[in-house]
Amino acid sequence: MRFDIITLFPGIFSGFLSESMLKTAIDAGLIDIHLHQLRDWADDKHQTVDDRPFGGGPGMVLKVDRVVPCIEEIQRLTEPGHLILLTPQGRTFRQQIAEELVQQKRILLLCGRYEGFDQRVNDLLQPDEISIGDFVLNGGEVAAMTIIESIMRLIPGVLGDEDSARIDSFSSGNRLLEESQYTRPREFRGLSVPEILLSGNHQEVDKWRLQNRLERTKLRRPDLLTDS
Ligand code: ADE
Repeated sequence: MRFDIITLFPGIFSGFLSESMLKTAIDAGLIDIHLHQLRDWADDKHQTVDDRPFGGGPGMVLKVDRVVPCIEEIQRLTEPGHLILLTPQGRTFRQQIAEELVQQKRILLLCGRYEGFDQRVNDLLQPDEISIGDFVLNGGEVAAMTIIESIMRLIPGVLGDEDSARIDSFSSGNRLLEESQYTRPREFRGLSVPEILLSGNHQEVDKWRLQNRLERTKLRRPDLLTDS
């Protein structure tokens, strides 16, 4: 699966791309990530990509005549992909959207900064506008990483057998939070591991785990049990 990230700050991604599971997936050829500096589409000495908003107001707006040609050129590099624009105004990201997006062969992630994009960027490119939650970040970069990480876990072969055998919380058909986990020591500062987990009785352990998941979900995220 190919990802193209369009950003003013490609350096933000360097640790993300060179560590852990994502690096392994890239090395194995399961994921291909390309970073593009939006400023490369500026044509002046200062590499300007933003300007003051018409009508006044604070902040700067990313220019339509820089962003649209940039995306069009990147789309032409290979078979056109699904364009996502990261913005707090988008639909809220969730596991089901990751499951939908993993079906794509190629995804472009356009990261905003400042006060956002000229509206004509949205009008002309009709991107899939996505927010990662009801809070405002400095830009779309962290949101893009969040989306890539949740999608890549769903690509066959990326997770080891042990991990992929687990059905993550929030995935379709699983609306329960994960159960509490314990490892050695059996006792720490007066707190003991539940006896049942040490019993070796797998049936009883499974029963305990399900009960624990139900209780946790009811307490922490009752909406998961009632919302469709
Ligand atoms: N850019 C700024 N805030 C954001 C958010 N919450 N989600 C996606 N992109 C953003």
